[in-house]
Amino acid sequence: MSHAIITRKLSHSFAGKQVLNNISFEVQTGEIFGLLGPSGAGKTTLIKLLTGQLRQTDGDAELLGTDTRKLGAPEHRQIGTMMDNFGLYERLSVYDNLLFYADICHVPRGRVTEILKGIRLYESRKTAVSKLSKGMKNRLSLARALMNDAKVLFLDEPTSGLDPATTREIHAILAEQRQKGTTIFLTTHNMFEAESLCDHVALLNGGSIVEYGEPAALCRKYNYLNKLRVTLKDGEVVLLENGSDSAPQIKEYLEQERIAAIHSTEPTLETVFVELTGRGLD
Ligand SMILES: Nc1ncnc2c1ncn2[C@@H]1O[C@H](COP(=O)(O)OP(=O)(O)O)[C@@H](O)[C@H]1O
Ligand SMILES: [Mg+2]
Repeated sequence: MSHAIITRKLSHSFAGKQVLNNISFEVQTGEIFGLLGPSGAGKTTLIKLLTGQLRQTDGDAELLGTDTRKLGAPEHRQIGTMMDNFGLYERLSVYDNLLFYADICHVPRGRVTEILKGIRLYESRKTAVSKLSKGMKNRLSLARALMNDAKVLFLDEPTSGLDPATTREIHAILAEQRQKGTTIFLTTHNMFEAESLCDHVALLNGGSIVEYGEPAALCRKYNYLNKLRVTLKDGEVVLLENGSDSAPQIKEYLEQERIAAIHSTEPTLETVFVELTGRGLD
């Protein structure tokens, strides 16, 4: 199957208030797909629709070839989900949380120990979840999503609020999963994460997809946002449009031998997002 997820004009309203509007996209099998958008854009709602936790008010979605309104136990065994509230049992230990889940999913109990070692939580296996740091809860929640060797992982802001070292660890785990052929659907408002991890991204704003593509291709597409950063010998930095209008100014600097350095500043995904939505992601 070449597409793990397909949506066609998917829409959702809560009590008449539309929060997702005609969403159509495809996620290829084995890719990391990033859904980017500010708080309230509708990212979590979309994951809930795709995983059968909510039923859309309009349009269609397919997960692994099955209509998401008809997902049953066989499909659920093939997906792993990490929601933004983690969904862990606070009073149970790290080990018991995973054990409970292993039993529900019919995963052999030995897998719990293996997974705990893999995400470096084995030493903390007896600690109650309520005593864990945010980074540890994140890793545990990810561990649970990984437990059943899912074909598709849904990760809702897997690195939100984490320190750079834990973020790197999680990125390494995701890269490893991708190597194994797992399809990953993640939401984030971390542009660096999107640029470095994702094969394709969709930018969601106010419930609509405003752009879709490969991160690098999107940055190229919006290359007109490109500026020239001219550093003068006296230390002054001048930002000029990268276009013919700037030619007289640059010519003048050249004639005056005032230029210490010239660089182009390529747009980042963040710049593209701000251009499209008029606001940043945080
Ligand atoms: N259960 C719900 N009932 C009513 N409104 C909701 C519910 N869940 C989310 N919303 C609203 O839907 C919009 C999108 O929310 P959400 O999907 O959580 O966005 P994101 O995950 O991108 O921050 C928000 O305006 C939010 O308040
Ligand atoms: Mg959310």
